[in-house]
Amino acid sequence: MADLSTDFAGIKSPNPFWIASGPPANTAYQAHRAFEAGWGGVVWKTIGDPIRNVSSRYSSIDYGNMRMVGLNNIELISDRSPETNFREIAEVKKRWPNHAVIASLMVDTRENWHDFVRRSADCGADGIELNFGCPHGMCERGMGSAVGQNPDVAATIIGWVMEAATIPVIAKLTPNITDITAAARAAKRSGANAISLINTINSITQVNLDNFVPEPFVGGLSSHGGYCGPAVKPIALNMVQSCASDPEVRLPISGIGGITTWRDAAEFVALGATTVQVCTAVMHYGFRIVEDMIDGLNDYLDGKGFENLDELRGRAVDTVRKWETLDLNYKRIAEIDYGKCIGCNLCYIACEDGAHQAIALVDPAGYGLGPGRVPNKPVPEIKEEECVGCNLCSLVCPVHDCITMVSVENGLERLAWADYQTRLAAGDATAFAPHP
Ligand SMILES: Cc1cc2nc3c(=O)[nH]c(=O)nc-3n(C[C@H](O)[C@H](O)[C@H](O)COP(=O)(O)O)c2cc1C
Ligand code: SF4
Ligand code: SF4
Repeated sequence: MADLSTDFAGIKSPNPFWIASGPPANTAYQAHRAFEAGWGGVVWKTIGDPIRNVSSRYSSIDYGNMRMVGLNNIELISDRSPETNFREIAEVKKRWPNHAVIASLMVDTRENWHDFVRRSADCGADGIELNFGCPHGMCERGMGSAVGQNPDVAATIIGWVMEAATIPVIAKLTPNITDITAAARAAKRSGANAISLINTINSITQVNLDNFVPEPFVGGLSSHGGYCGPAVKPIALNMVQSCASDPEVRLPISGIGGITTWRDAAEFVALGATTVQVCTAVMHYGFRIVEDMIDGLNDYLDGKGFENLDELRGRAVDTVRKWETLDLNYKRIAEIDYGKCIGCNLCYIACEDGAHQAIALVDPAGYGLGPGRVPNKPVPEIKEEECVGCNLCSLVCPVHDCITMVSVENGLERLAWADYQTRLAAGDATAFAPHP
């Protein structure tokens, strides 16, 4: 069995799965339950000057039969006193010395940062996460994403934190910014030991069309909230990869955003994360999801012959390149497994109306169709010369692995846009011969 233990900027945990700062990490009771279930770390609900929340606080997007594909919240940081939070962190650390307990902090002045940083170390926390990401409420008070969106301000505050810090410091970044690497670089140059990303994304999930107030409804008004859950994973992966590949960042990364399964976690690690954090999936399904995450990740690593997470970490980072480096002469086309095709013709409509008119509907005779198919309905057939390999039909096909995309050997040498420009500049006008 592979070794899942992690060392994140000096913070050790038995596995990479941490509870993200949020409702599931609000109390010692929850931290104990999380560790009993198997989580490797807990990032405490952000501690600061206790706030007062509104009612209600959450809204969500459902898609098809799936509830809470995306979750929105207008909740603030901890409504409990710093004394209670630090005392409970000490209790949790005492009972779970080998698990990671991180104090998430958000305060305002230099003196307050010094005070909270020292109290975090005094209560035995393994590290400190700086909440520069909360995109609602706290930013109106000059904190949260108001800091994270301004790399110079973030750098100043990290500088204050580092003056007092004796344990590792993680800067948690906001995705509500044009270039996440600017914030990551600011964290690096001001001395942070690591970064975590992403916090939630500004959002309005839905408008009630009777009273015209978006959810969550608060006495006839609403507010912009922070979006998270499975819907944000692609945005988070993109930002993690951007930070992992930036030569000026080079900091350990804790990946956050939409992680629900071991596979999500493995993808974050492949794109450079050392640990992963989970909030929405725990709010949806409870702490026990970590059992499947641990088993699944173990099986995957064993199957690949990897002995530990270091062997997976960052493997996909360098395969993401600038568009201009991609081979214009590479070609793939769609291929249909007629034994699996149920004859819904969704692929035909998608390609005909939404893509390249590269699928014909033909007589089903002789196609060896699978069971459950409506007899005598025409079957889709790929027109190989017309297919540009866009993937759309394989994405809409409701049957798993019924349409696969296959590489075509076309005899053309590799030619990227950047190379083509170089060859053109050298007077070689014959260089460009890509497929249609
Ligand atoms: C209701 C709620 C409250 C949150 N509170 C905090 C917080 O106090 N501090 C913080 O840094 N992040 C907070 N977050 C953000 C999460 O830690 C996490 O960055 C985000 O939800 C993305 O992860 P997910 O898709 O697994 O939920 C909160 C998220 C939710 C849904
Ligand atoms: S979408 Fe898939 S199942 Fe439906 S007709 Fe096309 S290949 Fe067959
Ligand atoms: S890959 Fe794109 S172009 Fe080719 S058949 Fe499918 S939808 Fe049409």
